[in-house]
Order: sequence, then C-alpha cells, then structure tokens
Amino acid sequence: MNNPIDSVMSGYTNLIRRGRNFVCLCPFHSEKTPSCTVYAENNSFYCFGCGVGGDVITFVMKIENLDYVEAIKFLADRAGMTMPEDNSADSRAAYMKSRILEINRTAARFYYNVLTHSPEGEKGRRYFAERQLLPKTITKYGLGYAPNDWYSLTNFMRSKGYGEDELIAADLCSRGKKGGLYDRFRDRVMFPIIDLRGNVIAFGGRVIDDGTPKYLNSSDTPVFKKSMNLFSLNFAKKSEEKRLILAEGYMDVISINQAGFENVVATLGTALTQEQARLMSRYAEEIIIAYDSDGAGQKATHKAINLLSDAGVKTRIIKMEGAKDPDEYIKKFGAMRFRQLLDRSGGAIEFELAGCRNGLDISTDEGRIEYLKRCVKLLADISSPIVREVYIGRISDETRISREVLFQQVNSTIKKRADQNKKREWTEIRTFQNEFKKDPEAYRHSKEYKAETGIISFLAAYPEEITYVASKISPDDFVTGFNRKIYAAILEKSKNSGFYDILSLQSEFTADEMGKITEIAVNSKDVNINKTAVDDFIKFLKDRADNSQDVNALSDDDFRNYFDRLKKKK
Ligand code: GTP
Ligand code: MN
Repeated sequence: MNNPIDSVMSGYTNLIRRGRNFVCLCPFHSEKTPSCTVYAENNSFYCFGCGVGGDVITFVMKIENLDYVEAIKFLADRAGMTMPEDNSADSRAAYMKSRILEINRTAARFYYNVLTHSPEGEKGRRYFAERQLLPKTITKYGLGYAPNDWYSLTNFMRSKGYGEDELIAADLCSRGKKGGLYDRFRDRVMFPIIDLRGNVIAFGGRVIDDGTPKYLNSSDTPVFKKSMNLFSLNFAKKSEEKRLILAEGYMDVISINQAGFENVVATLGTALTQEQARLMSRYAEEIIIAYDSDGAGQKATHKAINLLSDAGVKTRIIKMEGAKDPDEYIKKFGAMRFRQLLDRSGGAIEFELAGCRNGLDISTDEGRIEYLKRCVKLLADISSPIVREVYIGRISDETRISREVLFQQVNSTIKKRADQNKKREWTEIRTFQNEFKKDPEAYRHSKEYKAETGIISFLAAYPEEITYVASKISPDDFVTGFNRKIYAAILEKSKNSGFYDILSLQSEFTADEMGKITEIAVNSKDVNINKTAVDDFIKFLKDRADNSQDVNALSDDDFRNYFDRLKKKK
C-alpha cells in the first residue's frame, strides 16, 4: 500500500526533517516543543512525551478513531485501492456505522422536508423566520423541524426499511415501556451535525418555546463522539482565513455564518475539550473566542484560553458590549460592526489580566495585594520576556508598585515552576517507571520484566534472530502477561510467514498496547542489545522457572551480581 507514514501524518501535523527522520508536535497530546519522531525508514512513529506510537495503521486508528479494518480501508481509499469485504466482527461494526450514517442522512432529509414543505412545519418556519434566518441559510445547514408527534420519524424510517436496533443505535428513537419505539426529537427545530467528510453524524434539537431541556443532543453513538467534533467545521475548514471564530451556540454559529463569516465553529453542547482544541489548531493559527458576554460565558472563555494555548494556538477574545451573544450583536449592530469586533479583539493576556480584578476592590490594600498576586501568576505564564516586560510595566503603572519588585516576583515564580517541572519530568519519563505505574505485574516482577523487555527489544531490532530465540525459550517462560502476549504474537506471525514486523501486530493488540510495543521497538535502537545479553536474559528466565528463586527480593546491585554469576556459569 502506498502510504508512507510521513505523507499520512503531514495531513495532521507539521513535519520537520531531522536527517532520515522527522519530528513534529504530537497530534495526540498538547505540547509546544516537538517530542514526536516519525521514522520514515520503517514507517513508524513514536512520541516520547505521551508514549503513543506505532505504524501507519495504528496512527490512523488513533487519529481518526477507527478500528483496525476501518483504518485499513481508510488507507486503501487514500492510496486509491479497494478492499475485499469479509464477515468478521470488525466489518460488522463497520457495517453498523455505515447504516447509522445512512439513517442519519435520511432523518435529516425528513426533518428538512417537514420544515420546508409540510403544514406541520409551519411552527418551525415561523421560529426561524423570527430569528431572521434566510431560506438559503436553512438549506445550507440542512436545518429541520421534528413534528410534535411521538411516531412520525419512527414510522417514516420503518417505511424505508430500517430496523429497530439500528434506529436506537443512531439515537433517533427510544424504546418505550411497552416495547414500542418512539421519536426522541419532538416539536424541536433540528440542527444536523456534519463531519469533515460530509456525513450527518448527530443532531441537536432546540425547543421552540421555553420547554426543557432547551437543547437535546444526540448521545455518543458508534459514529459520533461529541468531544471530538465541532459544529460547522465542515464549512469552516474550507475557509481561506487563518483565524477561526469559536462561538458558544449553534444559533450563534449560524448567525455569524449568515453574516458572511465562514470560519466559525461551536462545541456540541459541552465545554471545549482538549481534542477539540487540537482539532481547531489543525485548521487555524489563531482562534477568536466569541462566547456569551455573561458570567458563564466569561468563565468558559478562561478555560478555553488555557486549552487552546496548550494546543499551541494563539487566542484572541472579542469584547462584546450591548449584546448577550454574537447572534444578538449581529442583529442589533450588523455584520460590519461584528467584523470590527473581531479586528479589535484583544489577546489572551489582556483578557486574563482584566479577569484578575473580578470580585476585588483594588482601591483597598487587600484588594491590590490579591490583584497583584493573581497578576504575577499570570505574568509568569508568558514565555516571551519582551511581552512580559510590557505587561509588567503596565501593571506597575496601574498599581504603583515598582517594576523591579514585580519583575523579581515574576522571575522567582518562573524559577519555582521550572524546578517543579523538571522534577516531574524525571519521575514521569522513561520506560520502566512508566510501565511500573500502569502495570502492577511489571512492578512485582521488575527483574523478569526487564529481561523480557530486553528479549523483545532484541527481536524488534533483529527479526531474523527469531528462529534462534524461539529454539531457546517459549512464551510460558515469560512471567508478565503483556510481554508473554507480545512474544507469543511474534512467534505466531513468524510461524506463518517466516517473517514478522513487530510494528504490525495491530490485529492482536489495541492501539494503546501498540504504543507500548512501539516504545520498546524505538528504544531498542538506543539500547542496542546484543546476542550475549539476550542469552543472559533467556538463561535468567529459564533458571527462574527451574528453581524459582525470588530474585525480586534482590537489590539492583545484587541483581547485577547475580547476572554476572549466571554469565560465568555458562
Ligand atoms: P439560542 O438561545 O436559541 O440563541 O441558542 P444558543 O445556541 O445561543 O444557546 P445557548 O447560548 O443557551 O447555549 C449555547 C449552547 O449550549 C447551545 O448551542 C447548546 O449546544 C448548549 N446547550 C444549551 N442548552 C442546553 C441544554 O439544555 N442541554 C444541552 N445538552 N446543551 C445545551
Ligand atoms: Mn445564545
């Protein structure tokens, strides 16, 4: 398959060449300096920051949230090939997904037709007219109306031949006490949620009057994860703009879009998530937050700033006066004024500094001290010394505290944090420590675990040695479960083809497990275990099986001596 990992990954993150390899910001966790390496020669990647890694298939599974078979299909499509169908559980799950997508599309068309063409749709038409949506906007977003009836969608979908289980899986119907199905969305205007490939993946439905809940959203389904998608990103991604507007509600997005701004998105009824922040960072260099002007909106803005800056994007914040949200603002003041609002939006620091005053009376000493404490914390977050200096000057003028004192406070906070970070990195990073925390078995049998990992590292580096190793040790001699499983999988693979690639074991392992396997494979290059060492490891595991001496009671030094003795025995 013609899918070099660097070409696939460059669709998601910026690759920088380093010799034969590439480095990049890890697309799976937020970071500001690249810790993810892409190994072009063996088509794999590994992030030293978060430990995710694998080959191109694992990458696609994780980033597109697909299972193994779907990932293969995805890559086949990408390379312009087709895949034979089969009947495994994987392909049944893939089939269910495609059915749900078809059901969603059919339902969206149904709600749209009710809204635009039927007598019951009058209520929805009146509602959208009141909110000043143009017919072309309604069509563009495929908006709809779910009739005030318990069975209209259910009956319609049945007449189209869809089954009960599928309709429930799509979260469009629920099962009543007596076992019959009924519509989930009733008497609501409907907002279809569309993914980047143009699939209808979910719905949001808003009440027409003051009922509750105001919005009903699809729960997560096999085709929908609300934390990973954004409303209207399908339009926004086509925009040439480098800035992306983030609004709070569906109606805000639609209003802003209708006013001529394609580059606007919203979350789906929940607070912004890390995944969504990263998703946005792929499409924009700068995010302009346009949340509601009320207290809740401002709190949400503060959280969004942090998430977005963790994702490495710049943020600006609009300051809206005279309206509670962008929808109202545009209606009151027009699109031109909204554009000015965007252009005059302030940076995150300004927003946060202004927020430091909240609830404080800075004409009092206590108020001023608390305000300064908050400001110092914030200033210590700023990475550029010049920018820091500018704001220190501003706050010094404002509070009449000398620049020197502020400067000193900020610097000592920065230093304190750097020390803490260093400590944390040392305890968190590196293979064995990491594994021990997650895997109690590895912790209990740390020596065996090291020997086993050594053998697997060796096999990762020298696949041709499998015949030799296989003749010496069997999976039963492995003590910890995960390593035993890896070794057994390698044996199995090599039995069939006489060849294996440790990075291509996805069908047996989860994407997370593949991350650990890749970590071993990647580190194997540095550790460079030779055949003598492997013989030692094998002998250690075999001896242990023979006389089951409790080597874990030995200290690291004793363990090394024990090893030396073993070597001499040979
Ligand atoms: P309008 O009030 O009609 O202008 O809609 P809006 O989209 O501006 O709604 P609002 O500002 O009240 O809420 C912002 C977003 O939060 C909405 O678009 C929804 O995604 C979500 N939301 C609001 N109310 C609810 C609710 O009752 N349940 C859920 N799950 N989400 C809600
Ligand atoms: Mn609103």
